[in-house]
Amino acid sequence: MVDVAVRPVRLEDAAPLAALLRADREVLAPWEPVRDGEWSTEEGQRRELRRVLERAAADAVLPCVVLVDGEPAGRVNVNNVVRGAFQSGDLGYWIASPHTGRGVATAAVAAVARRAFADPGDGGLGLHRLQAGTLPHNAASRRVLERNGFTRIGCAPRYLRIAGRWQDHVLYQLLAPEDRAGPGPDAGAPAQPGAGQVAAGNPGPSRTGRGSSSRVTIGPATASTST
Ligand SMILES: CC(C)(COP(=O)(O)OP(=O)(O)OC[C@H]1O[C@@H](n2cnc3c(N)ncnc32)[C@H](O)[C@@H]1OP(=O)(O)O)[C@@H](O)C(=O)NCCC(=O)NCCS
Repeated sequence: MVDVAVRPVRLEDAAPLAALLRADREVLAPWEPVRDGEWSTEEGQRRELRRVLERAAADAVLPCVVLVDGEPAGRVNVNNVVRGAFQSGDLGYWIASPHTGRGVATAAVAAVARRAFADPGDGGLGLHRLQAGTLPHNAASRRVLERNGFTRIGCAPRYLRIAGRWQDHVLYQLLAPEDRAGPGPDAGAPAQPGAGQVAAGNPGPSRTGRGSSSRVTIGPATASTST
């Protein structure tokens, strides 16, 4: 049983997140923009968290930390929230290598998607749509999205500068449950978003048959900048 929880990041997460990023520098490098040396220091992460918490206060992002057995194990974020007629945000995530291969990302993405689609009155972002882009050869990341009901919407040539090169990405989207047009390829997507503490199993069938082996909760929506 893996106990997975997701909550908005806090400044006090800077030190443990920096330690995870330092330990996984080589593992993460092929999947990320080139990072400077400061990125994986406590001060670098503190600066980054301050920046995203300011943007969270403006409702432009939902930056979350993933906890495994109560300890930080990665991040799942909704970035670049655009309002108006779009009501869309970009999903990004990483899980520290000691915790991969156990359904952690799948469960954490499900929890953050529920929060992204939940009503603002229930602490959600009230989005219509989440988008995610992955490198075509990032099989684990694509599987995480597919298990959460994301559908492939196309391929964007030279979409993001990853590992120092403009690289093609496969784009996926997930619509809010109430905006889906009946049963379709995403019919196995996460259940209707709810408020506060949410307990859920993994949302789709598992190749490894471990679908019911993780429990995920998502904490209060309010991110604190004072810790
Ligand atoms: C991608 C990442 C988030 C996955 O995290 P995770 O906690 O291991 O993910 P999960 O265990 O929930 O699911 C991974 C799925 O991919 C599958 N998988 C893993 N490696 C695979 C491979 N080489 N080929 C095919 N499938 C693979 C797993 O079997 C699992 O599917 P299943 O549940 O059907 O068995 C993690 O490896 C990571 O942080 N990678 C580096 C950063 C990154 O790529 N971020 C995403 C950028 S778009």
